[in-house]
Amino acid sequence: MNIGADRVKDINLSQVRKMFEQASPTAINLALGEPDFDCPKHIIESLKNALDNNFTHYSQNKGEPKLRESIARKLNKDNDIRVSSDDVIVTVGASEALYSSIQALVNPGDDVLIPDPGFLSYAECVRLAGANSVPVKSSSKNGFKTTVSDVEDALTPDTKAIVINSPCNPTGAVMEKEDIKAISDLATDKEFIIFSDEIYEKIIYGKKHYSFQSFTDNAVTINGFSKAYAMTGLRVGYCASSPEIIEEILKVHQYNVACIDTATQVACNTALTGSQDCVSEMTSEFRRRRDLVVGSLNDMGLDCVMPDGAFYVFFHHDNPVDFVQKAVKEDVIMVPGGAFGSMGEEFIRLSYAQSYENLEEAMRRLEKIV
Ligand SMILES: Cc1ncc(COP(=O)(O)O)c(C=O)c1O
Repeated sequence: MNIGADRVKDINLSQVRKMFEQASPTAINLALGEPDFDCPKHIIESLKNALDNNFTHYSQNKGEPKLRESIARKLNKDNDIRVSSDDVIVTVGASEALYSSIQALVNPGDDVLIPDPGFLSYAECVRLAGANSVPVKSSSKNGFKTTVSDVEDALTPDTKAIVINSPCNPTGAVMEKEDIKAISDLATDKEFIIFSDEIYEKIIYGKKHYSFQSFTDNAVTINGFSKAYAMTGLRVGYCASSPEIIEEILKVHQYNVACIDTATQVACNTALTGSQDCVSEMTSEFRRRRDLVVGSLNDMGLDCVMPDGAFYVFFHHDNPVDFVQKAVKEDVIMVPGGAFGSMGEEFIRLSYAQSYENLEEAMRRLEKIV
């Protein structure tokens, strides 16, 4: 019997998860895609209070009005995006925002540009919509920052949309404002949609984050609470766009999840409206770790550009699969860059979402096999 539907037959399960599952209990896991910090106490307290106050019923499909108002206020203030709370949908992580928006706006047979190297989910979400993904190749020579000419080179007559991710997983690259503006202008002129995955917005070092939606109406801003507030397991994200686009996305969201859990939405409102010191403290610790890792790898002769955001280092190696396997034997887990697309084939992704001490020890172990 042919169990899987045609739609899912060619879908790949995550390679990164597989690396993860290989890790022995003593291994230092540098394959992690989540902050190692605890979720800040005041957010947890807020979640507990919400449960004590019986926030256990359905919320509106788009999400709790108070949370959507806070998100809209944040988008206006931090991102220069003119939206109201009606233009926001609260989703099950940025993951669901990505899935629902691609399902809602992309037709079978359309071309969707995706970053190469890029986050694994993009190609699979595009495939689930029956569309074709077309790589936008970014080069290590440019620190993997996607430029407007990278996008122009990839455009096809059937391009319906592009997924962009800055700060980027897996490279840590942060795009330049002029490219963000120029790609936005291109989206307006050529009438394609930008799915802008801004989940690492707050984990950025000395650079300013810019949003496509502040330059074009043809954008869906995708963001969430997982990385900024170290709450990956609470599963809250959101998307924002123009009223016409949000109406379409709501159709997929509504019939897929109805709404996300109400108590966690209360806690997310606390996260957004409370002090942001927890975010800046976490980011400055990430910066200290980035400096340690980049310095150590470069000292070992492993070529590595200084990333401006996220918590990944993407370093060059002539034989990455072999090096990653040798590292596993030394109890250090990393991911070969080829998992993120053909442009990543000579690279290795190392996540520094680990304690400073563990990173120092991991560097000592890697030094043995270089
Ligand atoms: C680039 C990128 N986008 C989206 C996500 C998913 O985030 P969420 O936990 O909000 O679903 C991740 C998680 O690793 C990511 O790296």
